[in-house]
Amino acid sequence: TSKNTKRTLQEMKDRGEKISMLTAYDYTMASIIDKAGIDVILVGDSASNVMAGNRTTLSITLDQMIYHAQSVVRAVKSAMVIVDMPFGACCGNPMKSLDAAVRVMQETGADAIKIEGGQEVSEDIKKILAAGIPVMSHLGLMPQSIHNYGNYAIRARNEKESEKLISDCLLVESLGVFGILLEKIPSHTATKISNMLKIPTIGIGAGSGVDGQVLVIQDVMGMNDEFSPKFLRRYADLHTVMSEATRHYIEDVKSVSFPNQSESY
Ligand code: KIV
Ligand code: NA
Repeated sequence: TSKNTKRTLQEMKDRGEKISMLTAYDYTMASIIDKAGIDVILVGDSASNVMAGNRTTLSITLDQMIYHAQSVVRAVKSAMVIVDMPFGACCGNPMKSLDAAVRVMQETGADAIKIEGGQEVSEDIKKILAAGIPVMSHLGLMPQSIHNYGNYAIRARNEKESEKLISDCLLVESLGVFGILLEKIPSHTATKISNMLKIPTIGIGAGSGVDGQVLVIQDVMGMNDEFSPKFLRRYADLHTVMSEATRHYIEDVKSVSFPNQSESY
């Protein structure tokens, strides 16, 4: 199998095949989901939360994102790998944003980057696209702007926000981004946007009318039993599996039933 690219994703949208996407931040996880056939892997700045335990995504640095992306890229044979531009490295200064995007592409071997924001970051997007770097936009709920918005509630609920979202989608498509991630917006709005745009949309908490779905891997695998938003479906209960395995291991160590003779030299 060959590697997925922005072109593959466009072809999927054109023939009506939904795009599957999950996050990963390390070699082992990326290797498992790539072999299982996932279309796209996002090295999300959600690593700040699920890998580092920070309260927001603002804490993760460009160097830390590059470390996670390098680990993922080493594992991946078929999926397209997209890396989040972290808070502070982008945006507001196109030359600085370009430098950061070039570092991600050059030092990790990823296929594309993702940037939160629409019109307010259009100069940064243009600069990065002009350098030949594929960009995915991220609109709707934008966790890097959480302090400006104040909460993680559903976005684009009123007319004004919904109009701004739609005009941002049209703008970034016209700039040349290859796709748009839509986070936590009403599904009728996400469907309308997806039908309006030529480029693929990927949703999280955006209903089924989008062109693909993304979730955070720890959430999907049920490793985190504290985060239960309405949009999440858990496909495994690794929290229970791993807790029980740990208790069993402790028991065996304490009782000296591990290691046994065949496990010793
Ligand atoms: O960082 C992340 O995990 C994301 C989500 C929207 C999937 O951007
Ligand atoms: Na993100």
